[in-house]
Amino acid sequence: MRTQVGIVGAGPAGLLLSHLLHLNGIDSVVLERRSRDYVERRVRAGVLEQGTVNTLIEAGVGERMLGEGLPHSGIELRYGGAGHRIAFEKLVPGRTITVYGQQEVVKDLIAARLAAGGDIRFEADDVAVHSLEDAPYITFGGERLDCDVIAGCDGFHGVSRPSIPEGVLTAYEREYPFAWLGILARVKPSAEELIYACTDRGFALHSMRSPEVSRFYLQVPADEDPDAWPDERIWTELKARLETVPGFTLATGEIIEKGVTPLRSFVTEPMQYGRLFLAGDASHIVPPTGAKGLNLAVADVRVLTEALTRFYADGSTELLDRYSQICLKRVWRAQHFSWWMTTLLHTFDSDDAYARRLQLSYLDYVTSSEAAATTLAENYVGLPYEAAR
Ligand code: FAD
Ligand code: DHB
Repeated sequence: MRTQVGIVGAGPAGLLLSHLLHLNGIDSVVLERRSRDYVERRVRAGVLEQGTVNTLIEAGVGERMLGEGLPHSGIELRYGGAGHRIAFEKLVPGRTITVYGQQEVVKDLIAARLAAGGDIRFEADDVAVHSLEDAPYITFGGERLDCDVIAGCDGFHGVSRPSIPEGVLTAYEREYPFAWLGILARVKPSAEELIYACTDRGFALHSMRSPEVSRFYLQVPADEDPDAWPDERIWTELKARLETVPGFTLATGEIIEKGVTPLRSFVTEPMQYGRLFLAGDASHIVPPTGAKGLNLAVADVRVLTEALTRFYADGSTELLDRYSQICLKRVWRAQHFSWWMTTLLHTFDSDDAYARRLQLSYLDYVTSSEAAATTLAENYVGLPYEAAR
């Protein structure tokens, strides 16, 4: 079997790449380890930057998102007994975020690929990438896929990155001493906008998916067992961390999904080797506090699409050669923002009273100075894409 671009992984990165390449007349095959049902149900991120929303609309896959997504023009930072709104409409006029579940984006992309006759192989076993320097090919389930280029879109635990010879990549990494317990609950959101709460008991986040479904996260110890969190305990803790301002009551309901996500910062440089190009979580991870993971994957894929389109148009590898350099600028901005939001809002066991005072002082600054609030707002809604050329 032969295609132009062999794509490993049917997450947002791999699926969007396959779709954008198709729109530019380039063929691809997507190889995914899991079933279609599994990837369509995997609950993860929920905040789409303006640029991500525009990318999906321009690519013709934004219809359901425009109908069901929830546009937001602010978030609340809640601490010290008060809520403080970061008002995007004032700080970054014309730019908003849209709350729309990652698995909905994945469903929309799979539907678009299949409608266009796209080739996605779900439940592909033993995927391995070979001969990355010149004539790359992928093996899976006893088959062989020859291609011009391989896109490694297989997430942090995928096979693509570890297939690059030792010594080529440099990894930059930071682990955090806590994780997030994420839940989905069948209950009307208790607030119209997202609430990021910093308390002495730890961080909590109130998000949503629809007028009937809410999404919550709680800071918990690293490697926490979700079974240590029966529903009753989750609601008690969410109330303790969120019902901290006068007049706010948290509505509770049936918990329909529960999972623990470790928090990690990770970057590999470069993001390419020979004919293999890494995109999304395969090459970088951010802690979710800044809601950047999915949005960064989209930004990588935009650059890779443009570079591959140029390559197939006139044989030029000039943009492909600069792929890592172009992407890493945005990647590192998002790394810093995500680390900063995480540090600003979480409780660190190692913190002494002095460190806690510094944190509160910074929160006061961000919520009172227009300059500081604008820094948060412009990063949160997403900085403009740089022209790749
Ligand atoms: P993924 O979505 O990880 O997709 C990779 C795909 O490759 C998967 O479908 C996987 O099954 C497949 N794959 C892996 N290995 C192989 C293989 N060997 N062969 C074939 N296929 C393979 N970000 C936020 O902003 N907010 C959040 O709340 C949030 N929560 C998260 C919760 C979890 C549990 C995780 C893991 C991530 C979360 N993220 C969050 C990050 C965000 O979801 C990711 O940044 C985003 O999914 C990146 O997309 P991707 O396509 O690069 O990778
Ligand atoms: C959601 C996830 C995030 O990481 C975040 O910062 C905000 C919202 C969410 O899943 O809705």
